[in-house]
Amino acid sequence: MNQPLVPPSVLVIFGASGDLTSRKLMPALAELIDRGFLSPQFSVVGVARTEMSDDDFRNRMATAVEGSPESWSSATARFRYITGEYNSPDTFARLKEILNELEVSMGGLCNRLYYFAAPPSTFPTLVQSLGAAGLNQPTTAGGFVRVIIEKPYGRDTKSAADLDGIVHAVFDETQVYRIDHYLGKETVQNLLALRFANLIFEPLWNRQFVDHVEVTVSESLGVGHRGGFYEEAGALRDIVQNHVMQVLALVLMEAPVRMDANGIRNEKVKALQSVVSFAEHDLEHRVVRGQYSEGLSEGEKVVGYRNEEGVAPASDTETYVAMRLTVDNWRWAGVPIYVRTGKRLPKRLTEVVMHFRPVPHLAFGQKLSKKLEPNSLIVRIQPDSGISLRFGAKIPGQAFAVRTTSMDFDYDEQFTEEDLDGYERLLLDALLGDQTLFIRSDEVAEAWRIVTPLLNGFADPDFPLALYPAGTWGPAEADAMLQRDGRKWRQP
Ligand code: BG6
Repeated sequence: MNQPLVPPSVLVIFGASGDLTSRKLMPALAELIDRGFLSPQFSVVGVARTEMSDDDFRNRMATAVEGSPESWSSATARFRYITGEYNSPDTFARLKEILNELEVSMGGLCNRLYYFAAPPSTFPTLVQSLGAAGLNQPTTAGGFVRVIIEKPYGRDTKSAADLDGIVHAVFDETQVYRIDHYLGKETVQNLLALRFANLIFEPLWNRQFVDHVEVTVSESLGVGHRGGFYEEAGALRDIVQNHVMQVLALVLMEAPVRMDANGIRNEKVKALQSVVSFAEHDLEHRVVRGQYSEGLSEGEKVVGYRNEEGVAPASDTETYVAMRLTVDNWRWAGVPIYVRTGKRLPKRLTEVVMHFRPVPHLAFGQKLSKKLEPNSLIVRIQPDSGISLRFGAKIPGQAFAVRTTSMDFDYDEQFTEEDLDGYERLLLDALLGDQTLFIRSDEVAEAWRIVTPLLNGFADPDFPLALYPAGTWGPAEADAMLQRDGRKWRQP
C-alpha cells in the first residue's frame, strides 16, 4: 500500500446525479482509494437537483463501481448529498455547513476540490454561487480550494472569454483546473516522451523532413443517449476544440525548458498561436462537415444521426469534421496538417501519423519499388497504444525489390507497471496541485480562435453538409480534399 499522497480532502461534485459522476469519477476514485493514494478521511459531497438522501447517494455511488473492493464501500459510507439548485444561496449555505462538519471530523484541515460535472450552461452560476458563499478560499492556512471545470469551456471565443472573466473574479488561475481527459491518457503524454526523451526523432520533426501530418480521432459508436447534448455540441465542440487541439499542440510544440506546468503550457500555447486562422472565403476548401446516415456499424444495422433519440429530424449538426490546417512558424511552415474526427466510423481509434518526404532519388526503379511508400511514424494513442515506424526493406530473393514494412512498439507488451487511466490520473493531479495536464486559460482561448470561424461557417445554412453511411470512413468530400493536394488518408 502506498503512503497517502493526498492530504485530507473533500471532493464536491456538482452534477452528482449525472452520468459522468457514476461512469467516470466514481470508478476513478475507487481505484485511487484502493491504491492508497487518498487519505483515509477522504470524502465526497454530491450536489445536484435530483432528490436523494445521503443513503440513496451512497448506495448509488457504491454500486456505480462494478466489482468494487471493500475499501470502496467503506469510503462511500462517508459520502454526503445535497439536493439543491445551483443558483440558490440555501444550497451553498448547506454545503458550507457540511464542509465545516467534515473539517472538524478531519482534525481541522479540510482541502476542497470542486468538480463541475453539471451541464456547461451552469458553470457561471456555480462559480458565482461559490464566490458569494465565500467558498472560494481555504479556511485554514496551508489548505487548498481548487476547481475542476469540464469541457466545453465556453461555446466560442467570446463566451469562453466571458466565462473566464467570471471564473477569475472568484478563483485565481492557480486554482483552476480545466480538464480534458485526453491529457490524462498515458499515450498522449507519451508524445512528450517520444519527442523530448529521444534524440533521433527531433531532428526529423520539421518542415525539412515532414511532408504532412495526419491526426485521426475516430469512434465507431453513434451519439447513443446523448443526442440532446450532442445537438448543442457537434464534433467541433465535442472533440475538435479540446481533444484534437490538445493532441495537436503536443505534436507541434517546441521543446519545453522544463517539464512542469508552465514549461509545457507555454510551449503548447505558442504552438496553437501559430496555427493559421481559417479565412471565411476558403473555409469550404479546407473543411468538410459530415453527418452519418443509416448504415452498418460493426455488422449491425444502425440508424442515421437524424433518427437518434433527442436529435431534430432535420438537424445539420456535424458528427464528422475533416480539415486542413496550416501553421505559420519556422518549424512547420508549408506542412499541411490534416485532421479528421467522427462518430460511426469503422473503428475506435486515435492516432497521429507523421508522413515523411520521399527520398530525393529512388535508384531502384519503379517496378522494384512499387510497394514502397515514404517513411511514416504512426503514434497510436488508442486502442493498442504504441508506435510504428514504417520503412523500406529489401524483399528476400534475387531481385532488388523493396517494400514498406514496419517496426512496432506495443505499450502493454513493454511495460508491466500498473498505469492510471485518464480520470484517475487527472483527479490525483488536481488533488496534488499539479496543473501540467490541465488547460490554461490562454490555451482555451487559442483553441477557440481556431475553431470559432468553423462554427460561424457551419451556422450558415448554405454550408455543405456531406452525409456518410454509418460504418464508413466519412464522406467522399474529405477524400477529395486530400486528393486535391495529391494525398490520401491512411486506412488504419
Ligand atoms: C468525450 C466526448 O469527451 O470523449 C465523447 O464527449 C467521446 O463524445 C469521448 O465519445 C471519447 O473519449 P475516448 O476516451 O473514448 O476517446
